[in-house]
Amino acid sequence: MSSPRPAAIVLAAGKGTRMKSNRAKVLHPLLGRPLLDYALDALEGLAADPLLVVVGHEAEAVRQAVGHRAHFAEQTEQKGTGHAVMMAAPGLEGFEGPVLITYGDMPLLTGDSLQKLLDAGADVALLSADFPEAADFGRIIRSGEGRVTGIVEARDCTPEQLMVREVNMGCYCVQAGLLRELLPRLGTANDQGEYYLTDIVSLAVEGGHRVEAVKIEDLDQSLGVNTRADLARAGEVLRERINRKWMLAGVSILDPASTWIEPSVKIGVDTVILPQTMVQGETVIGEGCQIGPQTRIVSCTVGNDCTIQNSVLTEARLEEKVNVGPFAYLRPGSDLGPGSKVGDFVEIKNSRIEAGAKVPHLSYVGDAEVGARVNVGCGTITCNYDGKAKHKTILEEGAFIGSNTSLVAPVRVGAGARTGAGSVVNRDVEPGSTVVGVPARPLRQKSSTTP
Ligand code: UD1
Ligand code: MG
Repeated sequence: MSSPRPAAIVLAAGKGTRMKSNRAKVLHPLLGRPLLDYALDALEGLAADPLLVVVGHEAEAVRQAVGHRAHFAEQTEQKGTGHAVMMAAPGLEGFEGPVLITYGDMPLLTGDSLQKLLDAGADVALLSADFPEAADFGRIIRSGEGRVTGIVEARDCTPEQLMVREVNMGCYCVQAGLLRELLPRLGTANDQGEYYLTDIVSLAVEGGHRVEAVKIEDLDQSLGVNTRADLARAGEVLRERINRKWMLAGVSILDPASTWIEPSVKIGVDTVILPQTMVQGETVIGEGCQIGPQTRIVSCTVGNDCTIQNSVLTEARLEEKVNVGPFAYLRPGSDLGPGSKVGDFVEIKNSRIEAGAKVPHLSYVGDAEVGARVNVGCGTITCNYDGKAKHKTILEEGAFIGSNTSLVAPVRVGAGARTGAGSVVNRDVEPGSTVVGVPARPLRQKSSTTP
């Protein structure tokens, strides 16, 4: 069914006292993104415009985080959900059509559920769910014929009303004209003395308007994050959703319970993810890779058929058939050519490792160019920092760097050259030559100058 383009209001002014945090609740991260982003995603998926976020506590921080994704309304004093919507109403000026109202702390609610609200085509539609334990949710009150007549907050319920299991999830779709008409009529005659948005339901019914409750089956979607335990629970559900999506798309995940893939990640078919692995940020992983166990990859590009085990990678780029780990640390600017290898206890930063080059063990390679098929011996270090500035190390094609070489940058080792074990290379090395010693000097000269 095609429905008119909606406007949307996201309530995010509350303090989130139970998070016990200095940070606004809606800015707490969930799989790498602020809680509020998920609410905005769902609404952007429906092309909601205008999209208004009601801010209050930590308003400035919330505005900063949202940026240009939405417009803002300020609610300086939190006098209830109805009051919050009153603050946003001026932002709807000139808008006619359905207005979706959601919370910034319900990250699991999907655009599909909001679409159902729109499709109900009612004057007021709301999401409800049957809860085995209705707890402190507002109860949906229905007439003998089953028509929705109102919502009563748990604390305002009679004992009979408290028995009702159908609860209000807190998401609504109200026609703009009707919303404008009803908001000024909200009162504060309730246990909390607040303006309850929920009262628009009974007001609409009294006015002869069509009110529909759209029941959803997936109870997880009703999860509102109030505590850090809720945040962890939301993370679990989201993690399962994301992992399932990738498994259905051809990615093997051996232990979904210990695999965290952030929403923005992309993974190719036949890639296998081993336990205790996090794939974060804007990472793109190719086909046929083996990732993990115990690996963290943040905003990296990984080509096809790579193997990465027990390693940490941040803003690195790997071409195809690269072998990393176990226990490697690839920092930003690590750029590994096809078939290259970075082995155990190796740290790479801001360096290009060309095709087939190997840094197999216990090395630090920073600000370097490592040519094709270079072998960097165990324990080699690029001494890239002289205490003031960073300098570059260039190892040309086919060079063989002996174990425990210190490469004092800026320095260049020519194509096919060799350095002896333990040498300290503080001068450029001619292509094809061999240097040894501390400081390293050409092997020929060495025999003539030392007794
Ligand atoms: C509300 C509903 C209840 C529903 C429940 C679902 C009302 C009166 N009750 O209750 O029927 O079952 O949600 O979770 O609406 N907020 C503001 N400004 C305010 C007050 C709240 O922006 O002045 C925001 C909060 O930041 C939060 C959301 O609105 O994101 C919900 O507020 P909350 O106080 O948690 O409402 P509930 O009491 O849970
Ligand atoms: Mg709540």
